[in-house]
Amino acid sequence: MRAWSRGHLAAGRTLGFVPTMGALHEGHGDLVRASRSTDDVTVISVFVNPTQFDDNADFDLYPRTLDADLSMARELGVHALFAPSAHAMYRPGHDTVVSVGTLASTMEGAQRPGHFDGVATVVTKLLHIVEPTRAWFGAKDWQQVTVVRRMVADLDMDVDIRTVPTRREPDGLAMSSRNTRLGERARESATCLWRGLSAARDAHFGGVTGANELKDLVTRSVATAGLCSIEYVSMVHPDTLEELTDSRGGAVICAAMWCDGVRLIDNVELPASR
Ligand code: PAJ
Repeated sequence: MRAWSRGHLAAGRTLGFVPTMGALHEGHGDLVRASRSTDDVTVISVFVNPTQFDDNADFDLYPRTLDADLSMARELGVHALFAPSAHAMYRPGHDTVVSVGTLASTMEGAQRPGHFDGVATVVTKLLHIVEPTRAWFGAKDWQQVTVVRRMVADLDMDVDIRTVPTRREPDGLAMSSRNTRLGERARESATCLWRGLSAARDAHFGGVTGANELKDLVTRSVATAGLCSIEYVSMVHPDTLEELTDSRGGAVICAAMWCDGVRLIDNVELPASR
């Protein structure tokens, strides 16, 4: 992989990298398209990283669709797909962990112990293997890209991190590889998370800026939908992820819910009011 990358870099080309865990959907497609329109060559990785799963069942049930991923990558005009085995990524004796502090300790980090250590470690490894000019991440995992940006700055990694907006289904549900695990009824109910987040965004634009009022709109939307229950809702500063009491200066509401045994996350940006 590295030799392939270095060949392109030596020829003066810029290299874009889209790390994924596969089961590719149009959200991943948007990251690839953003890279294709910016970078000379685009690499996608498909690796279901065992070290970022805090739940063995979630790891076992995570969809693995490499053949379909390959054809989608081809259709998107990806120049290389890197799909290492777990043995190649974590060789016997592997004993190093990259750990981001405060930013990784709340929300997803609080609910999923060790999750961001796994993400930071595998992203570091992938960046060292691929050596991209730019790496592309989705806003859907707001905390993840925030943690990655911090890590890249703190460890002086020479890569440009870019964020792409969340791609949604026509009914608003954020695209996710885990959506394929939703049954018909759960799939219908699952729109409650985005409906709650959009209600909060509308309220923010309408002048309601208190965290409790805004978070309540999300909690209530999820509570009234069948099969779904909220895990957390937080209103945080977009960069520092500090919990905010008021949205006037700009905020992101991040939330996680369980829907019929499937854990889904989403978020909405609330721009600063003028
Ligand atoms: P995965 O969940 O496959 O997501 C890969 C990338 O696609 C992430 O940057 C994620 O934010 C982005 N993405 C997912 N759904 C999206 C959507 N609906 N719209 C836009 N972008 C979306 O995130 C991971 O994998 C892993 O943690 C990884 C970074 C690969 C490390 O293992």
